[in-house]
Amino acid sequence: MQKTTPHHWLLYCRPGFEPDCAQEALRQARQQRPVLAEQPAIIANSGYVIVALNEQSLSYRELIFARQLIRLHHTIAVLSERDRLTPILAAIAALPGTFGALWLEVPDTNDGKTLSAFTRRFQPLLEAALREHGKLQDTSKNTICPDKTTSHSTGLSKGDSQVAGYEPVEEGHDEKTADCPQKASTSSARAEKILPYKTSHLPRLHIFFPDKSSALIGTSDPHNSAAAIMGIVRQSMPVEAPSRSTLKLAEAIEVFMDRSEQTRLLRQGMTAVDLGAAPGGWTWQLVRRGIRVTAVDNGPMKGALAKHPLVEHLKQDGFKFAPRKTVDWLVCDMVEKPSKVAKLIEEWFAAGWCRHAIFNLKLPMKQRLVALDSALGGIRKRLDEEGINYRMMAKQLYHDREEVTVFLTKTKG
Ligand SMILES: C[S@@+](CC[C@H](N)C(=O)[O-])C[C@H]1O[C@@H](n2cnc3c(N)ncnc32)[C@H](O)[C@@H]1O
Repeated sequence: MQKTTPHHWLLYCRPGFEPDCAQEALRQARQQRPVLAEQPAIIANSGYVIVALNEQSLSYRELIFARQLIRLHHTIAVLSERDRLTPILAAIAALPGTFGALWLEVPDTNDGKTLSAFTRRFQPLLEAALREHGKLQDTSKNTICPDKTTSHSTGLSKGDSQVAGYEPVEEGHDEKTADCPQKASTSSARAEKILPYKTSHLPRLHIFFPDKSSALIGTSDPHNSAAAIMGIVRQSMPVEAPSRSTLKLAEAIEVFMDRSEQTRLLRQGMTAVDLGAAPGGWTWQLVRRGIRVTAVDNGPMKGALAKHPLVEHLKQDGFKFAPRKTVDWLVCDMVEKPSKVAKLIEEWFAAGWCRHAIFNLKLPMKQRLVALDSALGGIRKRLDEEGINYRMMAKQLYHDREEVTVFLTKTKG
């Protein structure tokens, strides 16, 4: 029998969730055809996994734990600090076609952060060389994000700098741009910086540095991957928001809805119920869009939200609350078993109490995928039985910890 060469895929995930990420990807592949028995070892808390497949394809949209989906083409296991550029360029030259963007990436770990100063220095150098070789197009948006926690050592060797006449410049740490994918100094640019990158239709080129001395070279399809460096849609913390939880809902809105859907589904004058609302970070996101919110929680709402004209705070049990009439949105961040929250969401949709929902499912310590399957499967089954057309997406967002966020919206038949 003919032996097929395995195709390797590189997936980024939240550190600590590597087994879940690999398990989910392999399961998706297995639904197409049997997967290879021998898989690359999982490195605990590394923030990435590699899976080896035959001809199966993976769908980024359907993966909950994967932050990014990259087809891995080449691994440079030993990268000399004296000249990283030459072997990387040689590996890229062997890839067919041209690329729409170059993203240099590191694991989302403390060790990874120490490498981001190096990638920031290396980016223009590699970019210039690739442009010269005709391998890179449309690079206007390709600067790497500075990182607050970055080490101030550049990690760039003399040899690397000399190859393209690169002159290191002093780093400036602008707190306001530190969370952004693109360095920006004007307020409009600052507003743009929290958005995912603009992409062309050409594949993106990813150079991932798991550590200082190795590099993984891969490509992503802009239509089947995350449009953000490291798969992280960063958000700036609004100073007026009452809790950091606000970032979860802000990110969910960016990740699950495109611009036109955001405009259509989050309009001034709409109504929402926020279950488990206190101290008010999610309510704040809705209120700032002019949405009237019934905030249900026995705990207190914080700051100006407590007396905001668009907020009605009810000290009630979120599992017993029923709205007087249909609302546009249900959002729910109550800390409860995923099965219990899923059941509640089913009830709301079956009763026609809301049109759209964003909710958080807190994950158990073990068997996370099993718990998620059961919760999401239960919702699908119930909505199918009720004849409700819907679209549902679940992701472990950057701002999610031991949890995932789900978007559910009714669609026309
Ligand atoms: C993670 S916090 C919510 C944070 C909130 N989303 C924010 O952005 O500020 C969970 C909240 O759920 C509330 N909660 C838990 N069980 C509840 C229940 N059965 N009914 C109402 N609220 C509940 C807690 O009081 C707590 O305030």
